[in-house]
Amino acid sequence: MSGTAADTLRLTNFYAALSPSLDSILTTLRGAGLDTDRVTAKDLYQRDLDCHNLGMHAMLGVVADWAAQHSAPTPNDTVLDIGCGLGGPGRFLVDRFGCAVVGIDLLPLRTERAQALSDLTGMADRTSYRVADATHMEFDDGVFTQAWMLDVSIHIRAKQALFAEIARVLRPGGLLVMHDQTGPLPRAMQPLKRQAPYVAPSLPQLVRHVEGAGLRMLTWHDTTPRVLEYFVGIQAMLTQASREVSTALGPSGHDRSAALLAAYIETLGNPGGRTGILIASRPGDGTFAPG
Ligand SMILES: C[S@@+](CC[C@H](N)C(=O)[O-])C[C@H]1O[C@@H](n2cnc3c(N)ncnc32)[C@H](O)[C@@H]1O
Repeated sequence: MSGTAADTLRLTNFYAALSPSLDSILTTLRGAGLDTDRVTAKDLYQRDLDCHNLGMHAMLGVVADWAAQHSAPTPNDTVLDIGCGLGGPGRFLVDRFGCAVVGIDLLPLRTERAQALSDLTGMADRTSYRVADATHMEFDDGVFTQAWMLDVSIHIRAKQALFAEIARVLRPGGLLVMHDQTGPLPRAMQPLKRQAPYVAPSLPQLVRHVEGAGLRMLTWHDTTPRVLEYFVGIQAMLTQASREVSTALGPSGHDRSAALLAAYIETLGNPGGRTGILIASRPGDGTFAPG
């Protein structure tokens, strides 16, 4: 099996366990007293039911604020959500900016659920999804105003191909808005690395990848304390609640969720494995020079 095929298989198994079914999401919403015939996107993402970024829904507002300092998408713009997962961050962007969102994910299970949740919340006219590998996207050049990529690049070995593709599909002046964890990852991340590919360059290496693709660095903002605070809060909830509780790390498997949480908490409390927001722009056509 090729390295890429092995990575895809591991990601499929890893995220299958982290992707709640539509039924279990509806059960959670009913439990919260909601009428499931009138579910809004907010009902989902504010409960972290369809977000898998580090820091969850609370972090989305932080990332959006940083991005908007450079440029905010308008209702005429289309944002590419790379590694869209269940689509929560994309639907948040539609609510916040009124833009359209195209989500891609490597795993059909994730794009199918993302579509089902957009149908459920009446967002199908502003969102669309397709299965695609971010290192090889079948979009024309320069079609997206922004490309968001929340906690995805860490799973992708071919960083050069990834950032070259992002630079290619962004329009001149367009923004890459990403969140991720930098390396070197400490030993505490081993429980996660055993389950899925986690390939984290140091911040200077990451910046070299971004700039090597011809993008111009605008911002790096460290979010580690926020992400750590979020995980500590979830850990406290998990400790108090029943073993059946559904957490952001998974609809089932209390022990597994607890182990992953503990790995993150130990990692983020150490100097390695920081998290942050990175924003870069594709220069105007005259100065864009892909590496
Ligand atoms: C941590 S989840 C983040 C999901 C989403 N961005 C969010 O914040 O809710 C990482 C996602 O990246 C996707 N992914 C991993 N490798 C990918 C690739 N090569 N191309 C596209 N998506 C990929 C995974 O399937 C998974 O859905």
